[in-house]
Amino acid sequence: MMAAPDSLQGAPLRIGVVGLGRLGKRHAQNLAYRVRGASLAAVCSPLDDELTWARSALPAPREYRDYAALLDDRDVDAVWLVTPSALHAQQIVDALHAGKHVFCEKPLSLDLAECERVLEVAQRAPHLQATIGFMRRFDASYRDAYDKIQAGLIGRPFMVRSQTCDLNDPDGFFVRFAPTSGGIFLDCTVHDIDVARWLLGKPKAKRVYATGTVALHDGLREFGDVDNGVAICEFEDGRLATFYASRTMAHGNDTGSEVIGTAGALAIGRNPRLNRVEIADVHGVRNECTPTFFDRFEDAFLYEAQAFVAAVKGGQNSSEASGATLADALEATRIGSALRHSLETGQAVTL
Ligand SMILES: NC(=O)c1ccc[n+]([C@@H]2O[C@H](COP(=O)([O-])OP(=O)(O)OC[C@H]3O[C@@H](n4cnc5c(N)ncnc54)[C@H](O)[C@@H]3O)[C@@H](O)[C@H]2O)c1
Repeated sequence: MMAAPDSLQGAPLRIGVVGLGRLGKRHAQNLAYRVRGASLAAVCSPLDDELTWARSALPAPREYRDYAALLDDRDVDAVWLVTPSALHAQQIVDALHAGKHVFCEKPLSLDLAECERVLEVAQRAPHLQATIGFMRRFDASYRDAYDKIQAGLIGRPFMVRSQTCDLNDPDGFFVRFAPTSGGIFLDCTVHDIDVARWLLGKPKAKRVYATGTVALHDGLREFGDVDNGVAICEFEDGRLATFYASRTMAHGNDTGSEVIGTAGALAIGRNPRLNRVEIADVHGVRNECTPTFFDRFEDAFLYEAQAFVAAVKGGQNSSEASGATLADALEATRIGSALRHSLETGQAVTL
């Protein structure tokens, strides 16, 4: 077995995971069992069934029902927020005030002023790492495309087409989630926004237009949300992006992006196949599709956790090597909020 890099040796980074819902359970298991240099020291959830799950699935972390109590735990170095999006900003601020490093799931906040407040607090604590979980940056195919663009393979990239499309959930989990999710653009397209800015060299957005439709889930109407949304984003210097988000795919999670440059183009995940098995039968020749975002990005969630821990232990606070910075996440919320406003008003929005 290869020796761990120096930065991963020594005392582990003691992490407290906050929120053990759909995604928090996955993060907790990664941190407990698959991330070198980390130890899962504590978990926090207000729900009995989630704490019961933690007792059976995790290596006996300390349990908290109250986030403030976890922040008082001096034997926690970093918090891992996997809580509802509307709570993120305040929870990050509280973590930084308590002297903890923070990993927080996307989006940074649904509210731009809240994002700005987090950045102000973080600027006063430059010794603490604060990263937002745009895990596509850690997917091997997205990373390969990024490296090829940096190497000049497609010339100057000027256009991204990107989509986040989920398998239809007839139970309507996301309809119940709609009051707190921020809507399809801040919940789903925010990933594509981050990918587009990352691959196009971090341009600022100038103007956006968004529209959408309710194809299947009428319950979304009362929240002003849609289950299929499309958008155009104009960046400075003539760079462009188009986005598509859907909650109603019949075939699975179909997430991918294309980058078009002056000397070529790259397509990432165009065929959302589950694996390399091709089925030939009376229906034709086909692949099975990745069922959920987690099946598609399982490795990326692990690599982002490994990168965060390596960055903190290596002292590279705020380095991009550990993922999207707070400033990147603020820009993603700025654009996502403008898309939501455009959807609501039917007008283009100038930023
Ligand atoms: N990166 C991705 O692709 C991706 C995918 C899914 C979800 N997410 C993000 O992850 C976050 C959580 O999503 P989810 O699907 O796991 O939601 P969920 O509703 O399944 O889980 C939320 C968790 O937060 C806990 N919680 C609620 N209030 C709390 C509080 N005050 N203190 C501590 N814990 C509290 C709940 O008990 C629950 O465990 C959201 O911000 C979402 O945007 C990201």
